[in-house]
Amino acid sequence: MSQPYVIDELISAKAIAARIEELCREIKKTYSDTEKLVVVGLLRGSFVFIADLVRELDMNVEVDFLETSSYGDSMVSSREVRILKDLRGEIEGHDVLVVEDIVDTGHTLSHVLKLLQSRNPRKLETIALLDKPSRRETDIRATWTGFEIPDEFVVGYGIDYAQRNRNLPFIGCVRFT
Ligand code: IMP
Ligand code: MG
Repeated sequence: MSQPYVIDELISAKAIAARIEELCREIKKTYSDTEKLVVVGLLRGSFVFIADLVRELDMNVEVDFLETSSYGDSMVSSREVRILKDLRGEIEGHDVLVVEDIVDTGHTLSHVLKLLQSRNPRKLETIALLDKPSRRETDIRATWTGFEIPDEFVVGYGIDYAQRNRNLPFIGCVRFT
């Protein structure tokens, strides 16, 4: 059993939806000459974000998923990134957008980008809903970021703490009581 905690709202569902609209306008500009965009969600934290994102992208999209080893039930990064589930489709010559929930130390995203780049996509960009720049240990930044947040452990909108709270419609901070 984990210690009892409360969740304080940090970013409302309304603010997330408004930001996604803005981001999608920029994404559509970048991929204006794209025949088909392969949107790659990093499981499991990005599943809600990717669902809202693709419905705001009125273009030809294909959705695929990649799963990397995660924090487990801990709050700290293991720094070692393993691929647990690879893409189903080929990305060679395709335009790809990687969708991440949070960039924290940056190890996950930098590992995934190296892997996908080695498969020779035509274009490879990234979007992260949240960014904790103060925690970065690698030299990486997503092409687009929804919100920069302080060094807080957050949950909701797909993001979990020990597999819980993914179904909250907003982003909240975990506070132990
Ligand atoms: P990184 O490799 O340290 O950048 O970690 C990235 C992954 O750690 C994210 O995709 C999240 O799944 C997880 N993570 C980072 N910060 C948090 C948090 O505040 N709450 C829940 N999961 C987090
Ligand atoms: Mg993740």
